[in-house]
Amino acid sequence: MTTPQQLHIPVLLDAVIDLLHPEKGERYLDLTAGYGGHAQAVIARIGSANLATLVDRDAFAISQLESLGQQGARLIHSDFLQASQTLASENQQFDMILLDLGVSSPQLDKAERGFSFRLESDLDMRMDQSQDISAATIVNHYSEKELSQIIRNYGEEPSNRAHRIARAIVTRRAKQPIVTTTELADTIAQVLPRRGKIHPATRTFQALRIETNDELGQIERTLPLLIKLLAPGGRLAVISFHSLEDRLVKNFLKEQLNSGLEADLTVLTKHPISGTDDVYNPRARSAKLRAAAKINN
Ligand SMILES: C[S@@+](CC[C@H](N)C(=O)[O-])C[C@H]1O[C@@H](n2cnc3c(N)ncnc32)[C@H](O)[C@@H]1O
Repeated sequence: MTTPQQLHIPVLLDAVIDLLHPEKGERYLDLTAGYGGHAQAVIARIGSANLATLVDRDAFAISQLESLGQQGARLIHSDFLQASQTLASENQQFDMILLDLGVSSPQLDKAERGFSFRLESDLDMRMDQSQDISAATIVNHYSEKELSQIIRNYGEEPSNRAHRIARAIVTRRAKQPIVTTTELADTIAQVLPRRGKIHPATRTFQALRIETNDELGQIERTLPLLIKLLAPGGRLAVISFHSLEDRLVKNFLKEQLNSGLEADLTVLTKHPISGTDDVYNPRARSAKLRAAAKINN
């Protein structure tokens, strides 16, 4: 039988533990608990699952955390913005908060989740499967201009390529809705040549994933709430997987650095810690870890 930890290998685990520096009896909030890899390691150090609050918007991930729930961890099935708002309204505070952003290996590897153009499936990409909007909704209902903007801004495709992809999608869907991952990948491959090893649909799939899950909006609106959720002296660690995510984290921490005496946080990572050297975990290659601590005042 596979354990939750075998489904997803936690990224930069040693560095996260170093920076969060868990001590016996401290309170832990994991806003992207996934398969509990980081959470297990922290709970082992704080000494009790009762001190942990574990959040994920994916029902399958929450089901995999059930054994930690039975040991006393509070499990919250919700997006991290809503969870942070709820916890703040309850005046909860934590000594450590972790955000390990993006998707998990099981989300990417299970064809039926519809995240991968390599695996034939309905075009889904919802992390929370109870959400109404899926990638298929966006592909079949957004205007050509909106599609082009998303592909440019979130896929970081140059404008001319973004326009060509958006035009190809709109032309194809006028004949028949685009319902599967491979139909979309083929539509894009027909208008864009392959560049080296990278499939021409790669960046469009990233863009659709970000839009489907409002990934950047979630991060941008949650980060400021974490100041209230951190106890004095509390540590925050954030792992991001692409430059758009990392930029939001970097700017948030930079604002703190620029706030001088008004700052709530002190930055613990002058430069981000990179996952490039993790030979055991190819998913870690693009990871960047930044951390900060709440000033004790
Ligand atoms: C990279 S995995 C986390 C893996 C986890 N640290 C571990 O060791 O198993 C990211 C998880 O965050 C969840 N997630 C991503 N964005 C989220 C959001 N806005 N709110 C709640 N959960 C989110 C995903 O569903 C996924 O399970």
